[in-house]
Amino acid sequence: MEYFDLIKTRYSVRAYKTDSVEKEKLDKILEAARLAPTAANRQPFQLIVINTGGREEELLSIYRREWFVQAPLLICACGVPRYSWVRNDRRRYLDVDVAIVMDHLILAATDLGLGTCWIAAFNEHAARRILNIPDEVEPLIFSPLGYPQDTPGEKDRKPVTELVRYQGW
Ligand SMILES: Cc1cc2nc3c(=O)[nH]c(=O)nc-3n(C[C@H](O)[C@H](O)[C@H](O)COP(=O)(O)O)c2cc1C
Repeated sequence: MEYFDLIKTRYSVRAYKTDSVEKEKLDKILEAARLAPTAANRQPFQLIVINTGGREEELLSIYRREWFVQAPLLICACGVPRYSWVRNDRRRYLDVDVAIVMDHLILAATDLGLGTCWIAAFNEHAARRILNIPDEVEPLIFSPLGYPQDTPGEKDRKPVTELVRYQGW
């Protein structure tokens, strides 16, 4: 897909078909994530690819929405703080890195006709317990990965004049 069509096509999918995701498509999506830039190229992330089939009930305690477990796959993007780049003033860029990785993954999925939805409002404690995530790894974002069963609404965005400030023009 042409880039501007791609970013217009992506939306938060909140209803999924149960159809499985082809292995070749999954591999491509994970490759897109792997190629994401990270601060100082530290690559401080891990992706957990979860089969939802047969685990719906326990996975729902991570994020209690019916559509969270409708898709055949769930992705959990985690940060690994010990690998992340930290600026002189101690600001850690882990969340930025993981967000870029997830955006690569999500746009690649969109390009292949798959749906996704960023999910931050999950129960971290439940995620750690159910997915066996150790203390030194931080689960930051989830997304279902599957074929959409809903249709996008209108994009609701602030005007560019509210978001962009030009200086020195
Ligand atoms: C960092 C981040 C966290 C989000 N967390 C959630 C969430 O927990 N649950 C949810 O339903 N949507 C979540 N969203 C989706 C946003 O609500 C959505 O992207 C926004 O309303 C714009 O709609 P669109 O994605 O359809 O363009 C999140 C989005 C981002 C970028």
